Amino acid sequence: MPQRIDLCGTAEVAPGNALKVETGNLVLAVFNVDGEFFVMDDLCSHGPGSLSEGYIDGDVVECNFHNGQFNIKTGEVAAPPCMVPMKTYKTMVENGRVIIETD
Ligand code: FES
Repeated sequence: MPQRIDLCGTAEVAPGNALKVETGNLVLAVFNVDGEFFVMDDLCSHGPGSLSEGYIDGDVVECNFHNGQFNIKTGEVAAPPCMVPMKTYKTMVENGRVIIETD
């Protein structure tokens, strides 16, 4: 059964920014790209970097640890040394809240 998880209010994440949200056993990065919200795991697939603390340029986030990059919308690797795509979550906005669906 898919599970819906309420992460935060849309007003908590300004465009071009990210917010780290811990819920249950998940640690997530919530991104606002031009008013659209995207969610992926916060822990970089390459090491100990926290992607919510990375540098955001458009729809790309650069990890502040070794400067690898990921596409925020798809989780795909955008620049090395990262090699493993990030897990992303189906994300929706309802009544000003950012919600994900997990399976
Ligand atoms: S930990 Fe993120 S690029 Fe290495």
